Amino acid sequence: MTDIIRDLETLRSRVRAWKHAGETVAVVPTMGALHFGHLSLVEAAKTGADRVIVTIFVNPKQFNNPDDLAKYPRTEEADAKLLAPLGIDVIFAPAAAAVYPVGFATTVSVAGVSQGLCGADRPGHFDGVATIVCKLFMMTGAELAYFGEKDFQQLMVVRQMVRDLAIAVDVIGCATVRGPDGLALSSRNKHLAADDLKIAPQLYARMCKASNQLRRGVDVAEVLAEVRADLLQDGFSAVDYLELRRASDLQPMPVCDGPARLLAAAWLGGVRLIDNIAV
Ligand code: PAF
Repeated sequence: MTDIIRDLETLRSRVRAWKHAGETVAVVPTMGALHFGHLSLVEAAKTGADRVIVTIFVNPKQFNNPDDLAKYPRTEEADAKLLAPLGIDVIFAPAAAAVYPVGFATTVSVAGVSQGLCGADRPGHFDGVATIVCKLFMMTGAELAYFGEKDFQQLMVVRQMVRDLAIAVDVIGCATVRGPDGLALSSRNKHLAADDLKIAPQLYARMCKASNQLRRGVDVAEVLAEVRADLLQDGFSAVDYLELRRASDLQPMPVCDGPARLLAAAWLGGVRLIDNIAV
């Protein structure tokens, strides 16, 4: 089984020894509840660096709803079992009190890309993400960091933070892993009822159809309105957002005249699903 390290001193001395030997170090930040999407990040990290640290930390600062935080699955033992065959070097799983000791007073806030989309529905969420990711970069000293494109806005927030603060980390975005039906893998999928699991892939299917229409030059507002209506017809209870944004900086794109990203969040049976695709 992989070593689980909980304290910063042990982690730092391990990383120091690796770097002293000229080895490169990658981090894959996670909140646990690992699935094949996470494992694909770990595999990418394994090919990109000599040493791989997977962090498991359910970050209280990125939950704006205390119920969500309480309900978040904590499955460290199962996570360690899933990671074992991949041969990573360390699982770093610090306690909350070690990451945010009494008196912790710093917030990393990334303007612009944090606004709108998930930032609108989850106030403070991206400040929590930027703060913990910045701290995990500092704690691990990793030179490479792997994130899934599934959380595209999060990836953009991290990239912007790294640029702005000149953090010496190469951020690598990895393609979303999907089931055979197209549904993006997510730890939330396990909360879907059997009937809803049949409906859920429609989110990706409708987005793909929209992407084709947008590529053909169909009016953006028209396409988005149609997809929203279709999703509600399919059985989704609400669409939090469905937007076309510029791929480079997530600025709104009323006209599809360059590389874009179609991003969506929709509710199905009390579960909020998100997805995004390139256009
Ligand atoms: O994507 C996640 O699981 C989390 O937002 C992250 C990046 C591990 C920060 O807590």
